[in-house]
Amino acid sequence: MKKNFYIKTYGCQMNVYDTEKMTDVLEAEGYVASTEVDGVDLVILNTCHIREKAAEKVYSDIGRIRKVVNTEDKTQKRGLIAVAGCVGQAEGREIMRRAPAVNLVFGPQTYHRLPALLGEVADQRARGLTPRVLDTDFPAETKFDHLPRAKAGRSASAFLSVQEGCDKFCTYCVVPYTRGAEFSRPVAAIMSEAEELVAGGVREMTLLGQNVNAYHGLTENGEVLSLAGLIRLLAKIPNLGRIRYTTSHPRDMTQELIDVHGEVSQCMPYLHLPIQAGSDKILTAMNRQHGAESYIETIDALRKARPDIAISGDFIVGFPGETDEDFEATLALVERIKYAQAYSFKFSPRPGTPAVDMENQVDEDVKAERLARLQDLLNKHQREFNDQTVGMTMPVLFEREGKQKGQLIGRTPYMQSVHVTLSAVDETSEQEYNSLMGDVRDVEIVTAGPRSLEGRLV
Ligand code: 5AD
Ligand code: SF4
Repeated sequence: MKKNFYIKTYGCQMNVYDTEKMTDVLEAEGYVASTEVDGVDLVILNTCHIREKAAEKVYSDIGRIRKVVNTEDKTQKRGLIAVAGCVGQAEGREIMRRAPAVNLVFGPQTYHRLPALLGEVADQRARGLTPRVLDTDFPAETKFDHLPRAKAGRSASAFLSVQEGCDKFCTYCVVPYTRGAEFSRPVAAIMSEAEELVAGGVREMTLLGQNVNAYHGLTENGEVLSLAGLIRLLAKIPNLGRIRYTTSHPRDMTQELIDVHGEVSQCMPYLHLPIQAGSDKILTAMNRQHGAESYIETIDALRKARPDIAISGDFIVGFPGETDEDFEATLALVERIKYAQAYSFKFSPRPGTPAVDMENQVDEDVKAERLARLQDLLNKHQREFNDQTVGMTMPVLFEREGKQKGQLIGRTPYMQSVHVTLSAVDETSEQEYNSLMGDVRDVEIVTAGPRSLEGRLV
């Protein structure tokens, strides 16, 4: 009988992409994906280390999962528990110590070696041992050369990893330690993966990287191509209607890339450009390598190139040394930019990062109060952004089924979720439903909520 597996994904879109890749690796090895964790032969937790809460959740999940995997036999057939992702990378040894139920820990740079690692696990079992395998090396070969090729057909919108790792070393962030140094995939590998995805029905592609706009991949002639150049090349693929990229760093937002937003129609009018805080003092302490004014200039330039561009951001409140005045500067910046959408967090001291040891750590209740104030303002702006779309007709790419019968969920160019429900649920509408899925259609927005829109086909 074939073995089955279940992967739980935490954290960022890079992990979503990695989960798809691990799924491909396991399916090529004869494993079958299960939709639930109960009774499976292998569970992989693809973890996130960015904030303490995310990392601690992994340990509580292990405790729960331990009881529901295949427990047929204490040794030979018992379901295996593996921890992948950034917690695995950062806390591999500690997981081995703290969680005896875990059989395998492996880091984000080793996913192509999963079959070999599972082989090692099987070997240990064959010798009557409870398997315990740890691999958090950064191998010399790049995993991208050894992972299965892209597989389309999951959705009309796909992620494509073009860059990984980070050399920026913001003082609060674990990414440079868990994902390693910056690496850009070669252009030819990206282009062939993109072409295959489009041939399989993908209409929208989100280029992924922790520092995606620092992309500098080699062409076959040995020339270096920027992200702007890569987007221009991808835009030549027929039927690839939408191109997005995330996450970008303000310092790498070049004029060339800004121009692409004005010139390449496939480049969607939406950009996630985190600033984290509005005070230059805090930005310096965070080692962001830019100030608030230069960020505002970048956004102004983007709006000049593409007046309707929607901006999204990330914020951290309560970074060490943040005074009321510094926090007011964040609110003032938010007022100035008016984000269409944003993520905001309380500063979480992460082991091994410089900010842990900084003086003037901010009290938790002050952090909580600032976060609530910031989120009120961000939510107000998001609501205003959504409200102004009522009555507008926008192209929507339908990506997935909704919860209700006849309901489809898609996205506007500005990343807003749109729900459309077909009126009569009969045979004709079923055909229409199927033809809409994966397609871009004009939708009139009828109502707006804080997080999503309702529309009807025009
Ligand atoms: N504490 C709180 N938020 C953090 N982020 C990264 N590290 C931390 C931390 N230590 C946030 C940043 C980043 C997003 C992915 O997570 O806002 O942009
Ligand atoms: Fe972390 Fe800063 Fe790199 Fe982003 S740019 S991944 S926040 S170190």
